[in-house]
Amino acid sequence: MQHSAALFFFLGGLVVLLILLILVFIFWKIIKPEKLKKSVGCTKGQQGSIDFFSGNLRTISYFDFHKLKKATKNFHHCNLLGRGGFGPVYRGKLEDGRLVAVKKLSLDKSQQGESEFLAEVRMITSIQHKNLVRLIGCCSDGAQRLLVYEYMKNRSLDLIVYGKSDQFLNWETRFQIILGIARGLQYLHEDSHLRIVHRDIKASNILLDDKFQPKIGDFGLARFFPEDQVYLSTNFAGTLGYTAPEYAIRGELSEKADIYSFGVLVLEIISCRKNTDLNLPSEMQYLPEYAWKLYERSSVIDLVDPKMRDDGFVEKDVLRGIHAAFLCLQPHANLRPPMSEIVAILTCKGEMIRTPMKPAFTDCRRRKDEKLSWDTISEAFPSPLKSDSPSLPQSSH
Ligand SMILES: Nc1ncnc2c1ncn2[C@@H]1O[C@H](COP(=O)(O)OP(=O)(O)OP(=O)(O)O)[C@@H](O)[C@H]1O
Ligand SMILES: [Mg+2]
Repeated sequence: MQHSAALFFFLGGLVVLLILLILVFIFWKIIKPEKLKKSVGCTKGQQGSIDFFSGNLRTISYFDFHKLKKATKNFHHCNLLGRGGFGPVYRGKLEDGRLVAVKKLSLDKSQQGESEFLAEVRMITSIQHKNLVRLIGCCSDGAQRLLVYEYMKNRSLDLIVYGKSDQFLNWETRFQIILGIARGLQYLHEDSHLRIVHRDIKASNILLDDKFQPKIGDFGLARFFPEDQVYLSTNFAGTLGYTAPEYAIRGELSEKADIYSFGVLVLEIISCRKNTDLNLPSEMQYLPEYAWKLYERSSVIDLVDPKMRDDGFVEKDVLRGIHAAFLCLQPHANLRPPMSEIVAILTCKGEMIRTPMKPAFTDCRRRKDEKLSWDTISEAFPSPLKSDSPSLPQSSH
């Protein structure tokens, strides 16, 4: 009798233990991941939730792949905004009506695991500035990796600068764009908690909101790809004109490479043309080279987009922008000022006593026998122009 009671309690205990173990298993394997996913912001696009991994307040959403598929109408080609080195970008409309840009990262290039991917997304999301495009979330589904950005109504600057859209920007708006990019870069290089070199500053990576406020896109993207593949991932020939000589030739990468690209971009914005156009007469083909030629002839103001000339602009402000661009295009990285100094020059708070030397630029005409050729790099530097040169203002106001 005593024996069978003990057996009864033993078996009963065993069954209860088993049930408890099954419940724990169900909780960890089925319920918890869902709850965690929701807590990282989730499929419903809710934001500002707690990140259970670090305990930090986050503004990132984790999107369900099917929701993104629906938002982009199954990644329909009519929603394709463009295709860059990292993969195609689609316009999407979320269930709550928000417009987003969904970037599908190319699978063959990114070999990251899910946790590494999420860690990088969290890192990038922590970098926020009014002149940087906001990454609002991501999706990782099997091998698929997608990034979800805020949608920028006026798309990218290349469409305007390269005449793909008939939008005209007056000088005030162009200046606002130049200054905004400079401030965004200053934040990435100097003020953010992470030091970020963008690597790919160019017109298509400058996005414009409904008020034509500029936001730098694609910063931190390099983190998703192995080092050697990042370099190949962008259309190198297309971006060659933006690439600093020390990066193109020796692979030396620093903030100064971004500063060089920014200088090229400023000249493009002022003149409304591509940095390289082999259809133009020989002396005009390379924008920095042509700008410098005009500068030497004291007629650098002729660089200005003819449409902007008709609309009117403040000459000394445009000359200030060109002066800043020349400083950014200096052949030696250490001669290029940091972005904070460029911002100060643009906003008339900085001295412009530094006289630029002849900029470095790529010369594709010589590329038949040489792979890459840089003017001014192997030449002796020309002596800096006299400070009484009439083309550019020499001191700040
Ligand atoms: N957040 C966004 N809002 C609106 N349009 C966007 C957004 N992000 C990208 N686009 C559009 O999608 C196009 C493709 O962008 P993507 O960044 O993939 O290519 P890219 O900038 O030309 O090249 P790269 O891969 O070297 O950056 C851009 O030119 C832009 O017009
Ligand atoms: Mg881009």
